[in-house]
Amino acid sequence: MEMDQSFSSSTPSRSIRKLSSLGVFAVFFLLCSTLTSVDAYDSLDPNGNITIKWDIMQWTPDGYVAVVTMFNFQQYRHIQTPGWTLGWTWAKKEVIWSMVGAQTTEQGDCSKYKGNIPHCCKKDPTVVDLLPGTPYNMQIANCCKGGVMNSWVQDPANAASSFQVSVGAAGTTNKTVRVPKNFTLKAPGPGYTCGVAKIVKPTRFVTQDGRRTTQALMTWNVTCTYSQFLAQKTPTCCVSLSSFYNDTIVNCPTCTCGCQNNITQPGSCVEGDSPYLASAINGPGKNSFAPLVQCTSHMCPIRVHWHVKLNYKDYWRVKITITNFNYRMNYTQWNLVVQHPNFDNLTQIFSFNYKSLTPYQAINDTAMLWGVKYYNDLLMEAGPYGNVQSELLFQKDLSTFTFQKGWAFPRRVYFNGDNCVMPPPDAYPWLPNSSPLSMTPLLLPTMVFWAILACLLAYV
Ligand SMILES: *[C@@H]1O[C@H](CO)[C@@H](O)[C@H](O)[C@H]1NC(C)=O
Ligand SMILES: *[C@@H]1O[C@H](CO)[C@@H](O)[C@H](O)[C@H]1NC(C)=O
Ligand SMILES: *[C@@H]1O[C@H](CO)[C@@H](O)[C@H](O)[C@H]1NC(C)=O
Ligand SMILES: *[C@@H]1O[C@H](CO)[C@@H](O)[C@H](O)[C@H]1NC(C)=O
Ligand SMILES: *[C@@H]1O[C@H](CO)[C@@H](O)[C@H](O)[C@H]1NC(C)=O
Ligand SMILES: *[C@@H]1O[C@H](CO)[C@@H](O)[C@H](O)[C@H]1NC(C)=O
Ligand SMILES: *[C@@H]1O[C@H](CO)[C@@H](O)[C@H](O)[C@H]1NC(C)=O
Ligand SMILES: *[C@@H]1O[C@H](CO)[C@@H](O)[C@H](O)[C@H]1NC(C)=O
Ligand SMILES: *[C@@H]1O[C@H](CO)[C@@H](O)[C@H](O)[C@H]1NC(C)=O
Repeated sequence: MEMDQSFSSSTPSRSIRKLSSLGVFAVFFLLCSTLTSVDAYDSLDPNGNITIKWDIMQWTPDGYVAVVTMFNFQQYRHIQTPGWTLGWTWAKKEVIWSMVGAQTTEQGDCSKYKGNIPHCCKKDPTVVDLLPGTPYNMQIANCCKGGVMNSWVQDPANAASSFQVSVGAAGTTNKTVRVPKNFTLKAPGPGYTCGVAKIVKPTRFVTQDGRRTTQALMTWNVTCTYSQFLAQKTPTCCVSLSSFYNDTIVNCPTCTCGCQNNITQPGSCVEGDSPYLASAINGPGKNSFAPLVQCTSHMCPIRVHWHVKLNYKDYWRVKITITNFNYRMNYTQWNLVVQHPNFDNLTQIFSFNYKSLTPYQAINDTAMLWGVKYYNDLLMEAGPYGNVQSELLFQKDLSTFTFQKGWAFPRRVYFNGDNCVMPPPDAYPWLPNSSPLSMTPLLLPTMVFWAILACLLAYV
């Protein structure tokens, strides 16, 4: 492959004007997409949800035994340590006699009971998974992973979590059972909203040899969806940019995830070379999983850097670096979702896994990237090992390819399903001898009109 020097040579002025209008459009498209990303609806994963299924397997003298299974049907959002917490409110005076593969966090007031004491008498039990290494006689299939659920794309075999619950003081037929209400799913923080339980056709189970089918006595489903807006008010990730054609490194926007403030919040971050680093890491908040970040201008726990590295005749190359600034978190099974129009011609990717996500079947511009097992699927805590890197090689489609107007930079980036804040488009590194967003006076209002129209259409 040969270096192509032609990118800086003169372009016909007609296409420059076309490009500047495209640039303005891109700006408004970005604004539009940051607005929509606040919504519970995720346009990159429109059907993403966690479905909780209750299968009643057996009636008992005073209730039933059910197997509860949670499926993470989200393409790129997973639940990592310290895991999920599931809650609900009983419709009547039900109690939990026993559980296998999970436990409630509190027993509650069981003083009414003599002899056999229930596992939990609370009206609104809170259930957590058991930890790996639980004795086999307390396990069922898909349990005991410390509440960790992988994403559907990364590891479908580990995207489900199950437990068994034996319920008393409940109905004992499908006419008298009442479905629990007010399901809550925490991961472990807020973010998920669960709908009401719906009675569905009983699940059918096929035996391993495939020769016999059994079915649940009764089944209900609950669907929970994620919203970044509910999960946290401040972002947790930002994007920085650089290129071979301009020395400027465009850092994450200042105060993206918080501001360094020594007066009102001393100790909100630590310097990487501070002698008090070790004591700060083990200080207050150690067990609450509150992030302890390295002091930076953006204060984000995660930074994604996109470097346009090389330009060949028919190809161009990008280097992606994800840096962890959080001293209190090893990100297991991390993933990145990146939107760029050239992903339809991704030729090679080094040291990350890749899958194309095509939310709108025809447009192939969104990629999910994640680490290679045992090699870089663990993004270590802040420090010398707190980063992972990859290079991407794209084939140019000469009708769309350009280094002008920030075309070579990503449109959207998500880390672990949360939006990463991009620098403002007018700060992107320019090609030498080009100015950002030059336009004819009439063009701007027209573009604004079309952009607003496009935003409105995207909402309907
Ligand atoms: C939940 O996700 C599954 C799998 O993508 C999908 O089939 C189902 O329709 C979704 N449910 C809802 C209520 O969106
Ligand atoms: C309850 O069971 C009866 C038969 O035992 C069945 O006809 C009916 O559809 C079931 N109802 C529900 C809600 O599952
Ligand atoms: C539903 O659960 C939430 C949190 O556990 C609680 O604040 C709320 O009052 C509950 N609503 C009902 C109707 O029980
Ligand atoms: C209930 O959930 C199970 C498991 O996710 C799914 O296979 C089934 O189609 C769901 N039923 C309905 C009616 O959504
Ligand atoms: C906060 O304190 C550190 C060291 O104590 C100093 O280096 C830094 O400049 C201060 N930041 C601000 C915003 O005052
Ligand atoms: C991250 O993993 C390393 C190596 O397994 C371990 O030494 C370190 O304590 C972990 N850090 C956190 C915050 O869990
Ligand atoms: C999208 O592009 C990639 C890379 O060229 C290709 O591997 C993938 O099959 C494409 N997906 C679709 C749905 O066209
Ligand atoms: C990918 O690149 C090839 C070669 O330039 C081109 O023929 C093809 O149209 C490109 N594919 C897309 C989807 O742009
Ligand atoms: C590099 O890009 C910046 C904008 O981020 C611009 O101010 C600067 O002039 C550019 N440098 C050159 C040599 O064009």
